[in-house]
Amino acid sequence: MANSTFYCCTTILTMLIVTNAVRAQPATAPAPPGPLNVTAVLEKAGQFTTLIRLMKSSQVADQLNNQLNNSNSGVTLFAPTDNAFSSLPPGTLNSLTDQQKVALIQFHILPSVLSVVQFQTVSNPLRTQAGNANDGEYPLNVTTMGNQVNISTGVVNTTVSNTLYSDSQLAVYQVDKVLLPLDLFGPKAAPAPAPAPAKSKKKASAVAADGPSSTPKDTADASAAVSLSWSASRRREFAFIISLSFFWWNL
Ligand SMILES: *[C@@H]1O[C@H](CO)[C@@H](O)[C@H](O)[C@H]1NC(C)=O
Ligand SMILES: *[C@@H]1O[C@H](CO)[C@@H](O)[C@H](O)[C@H]1NC(C)=O
Ligand SMILES: *[C@@H]1O[C@H](CO)[C@@H](O)[C@H](O)[C@H]1NC(C)=O
Ligand SMILES: *[C@@H]1O[C@H](CO)[C@@H](O)[C@H](O)[C@H]1NC(C)=O
Ligand SMILES: *[C@@H]1O[C@H](CO)[C@@H](O)[C@H](O)[C@H]1NC(C)=O
Repeated sequence: MANSTFYCCTTILTMLIVTNAVRAQPATAPAPPGPLNVTAVLEKAGQFTTLIRLMKSSQVADQLNNQLNNSNSGVTLFAPTDNAFSSLPPGTLNSLTDQQKVALIQFHILPSVLSVVQFQTVSNPLRTQAGNANDGEYPLNVTTMGNQVNISTGVVNTTVSNTLYSDSQLAVYQVDKVLLPLDLFGPKAAPAPAPAPAKSKKKASAVAADGPSSTPKDTADASAAVSLSWSASRRREFAFIISLSFFWWNL
């Protein structure tokens, strides 16, 4: 008798747990795999929050995702880590205009997908999406030895330290230094730091960048509300199970 009560109770409990798990899934499951998304690749890899922020505020992320969706030649991205950005001399990013920030990010992007092996046969200087690869502008050179790929911009030398993603459309390589182009950081350029106004300007551009994209926030609020109501109903079910158990135990 006590046994059958126990089994009955366990069965109900199991059913409730399973029901809950199935119902909870839409809230926690990741979005279905859509078109290739550079931001998602970087988010998944971690330690690229500065790059993601810059790509979003400069709209280069949207450009890139569009390009991936529409071009046949693909895209290669050199992704500097958060450490790479924080190792820059203080004020480096703030000294750049919004247009120069776009150029800096585009300098990290090649308008075709290159595997590590393909780097061995490309000819220098490589053309980046920042444009002109002429001396003194935006040249990017690579030298290879086996699987080692060194990059030189004329200002910075570094090495590809990791392949974050690679398929027929997109290659994303980790670099541990920000690739500074000659045009912005070469001896002639020497950008004068603009300390005070840079902050408010950055804030303004951040607001502008956030402006049109108020929908994601609304969606987040809505989904928060949904999960809140779920957790409330789950709490009620839990209370129900507890009182049910007490009821049976007392039989
Ligand atoms: C790409 O992924 C990011 C983060 O996962 C997301 O916010 C963005 O909406 C996605 N973009 C596209 C075009 O799917
Ligand atoms: C990709 O392109 C297709 C067709 O050209 C379009 O329907 C889709 O919305 C595009 N997706 C993104 C993320 O731009
Ligand atoms: C790459 O750079 C490292 C460090 O500067 C150097 O030791 C190595 O020989 C370089 N390799 C190539 C292929 O240029
Ligand atoms: C890149 O390579 C080209 C061709 O070898 C060379 O003329 C140029 O000086 C190099 N530039 C840098 C920045 O290494
Ligand atoms: C980068 O490497 C080249 C060739 O190895 C060297 O001549 C140059 O001085 C290096 N530049 C910097 C900024 O370290």
